[in-house]
Amino acid sequence: TYAFCDASLPFPVRARALVSLLTLDEKIAQLSNTAAGVPRLGVPPYEWWSESLHGLADNGPGVNFSSGPVAAATIFPQVILSAAAFNRSLWRAVAEAVAVEARAMHNAGQAGLTYWAPNINVFRDPRWGRGQETPGEDPAMIAAYSVEYVKGFQGEYGDGREGRMMLSACCKHYIAYDLEKWGKFARYTFNAEVNAQDFEDTYEPPFKSCIQEGRASCLMCSYNQVNGVPACARKDLLQKIRDEWGFKGRYIVSDCDAVAIIHENQTYTSSDEDSVAIVLKAG
Ligand SMILES: *[C@@H]1O[C@H](CO)[C@@H](O)[C@H](O)[C@H]1NC(C)=O
Ligand SMILES: *[C@@H]1O[C@H](CO)[C@@H](O)[C@H](O)[C@H]1NC(C)=O
Ligand SMILES: *[C@@H]1O[C@H](CO)[C@@H](O)[C@H](O)[C@H]1NC(C)=O
Repeated sequence: TYAFCDASLPFPVRARALVSLLTLDEKIAQLSNTAAGVPRLGVPPYEWWSESLHGLADNGPGVNFSSGPVAAATIFPQVILSAAAFNRSLWRAVAEAVAVEARAMHNAGQAGLTYWAPNINVFRDPRWGRGQETPGEDPAMIAAYSVEYVKGFQGEYGDGREGRMMLSACCKHYIAYDLEKWGKFARYTFNAEVNAQDFEDTYEPPFKSCIQEGRASCLMCSYNQVNGVPACARKDLLQKIRDEWGFKGRYIVSDCDAVAIIHENQTYTSSDEDSVAIVLKAG
């Protein structure tokens, strides 16, 4: 009898109907990857964290190869290798194949619908250690890869299809995130100092294409600071994405613990509550 259960209604109407029924505590309980269920409305808990950079991976808690009939999935080459084929149709075909397996595993109750891929950070420095996850060092090439991955993975949705999609892909990690651990620097506290030209020419293009042309349904903000402000608290950048890149009715997630570290590791705020407040206000 709830409007959000009525499959004949458009998705935005159903979403608003569900949110309108939630109490503040129930809304707060949705704000992590392990979203709580709402038993009184028949809403099950949901694990938002599944991974699929080059095949379904068991390094995210949303995918489990031992809880049902599907014991394995196809693993394609590391992204840096597929990228080196310089073949957009190939990138699209790989993403489509991963999506079919992901959807099948979801149907079997072993995987989620929301995936934290592609990784489209610019591979600028070989010391990063995660360069193999990315399409490489060239912003235009990464942008092209991101569009093919997202369209292949989500299915082409939008025009005339009422927002239906196969799965949700996530452009990560926004932005200027190219460092894990090096010397005295670590990803939780690194402040990327980026000038305006480098920002526009290097770091931004992959994300702009991933969102505008690829129509990714999700964006993930990164651990690092950008010019002294935590990336997840850069209201100016996140608002620009919604206002100028058409990122409407879609969602932003933080990297794992990227909100907690704003206080605990960056001491940018004076409490965890303040960290939650600034990222929510940032969008
Ligand atoms: C995967 O499923 C098995 C069987 O249900 C369970 O024992 C295990 O804890 C699950 N693993 C994860 C990481 O959730
Ligand atoms: C590019 O990839 C597609 C899809 O796999 C394949 O059919 C095509 O032969 C590839 N093109 C080249 C030039 O290798
Ligand atoms: C981040 O802060 C937590 C809590 O103070 C601490 O346990 C952890 O070691 C820190 N991590 C890093 C990478 O500094």
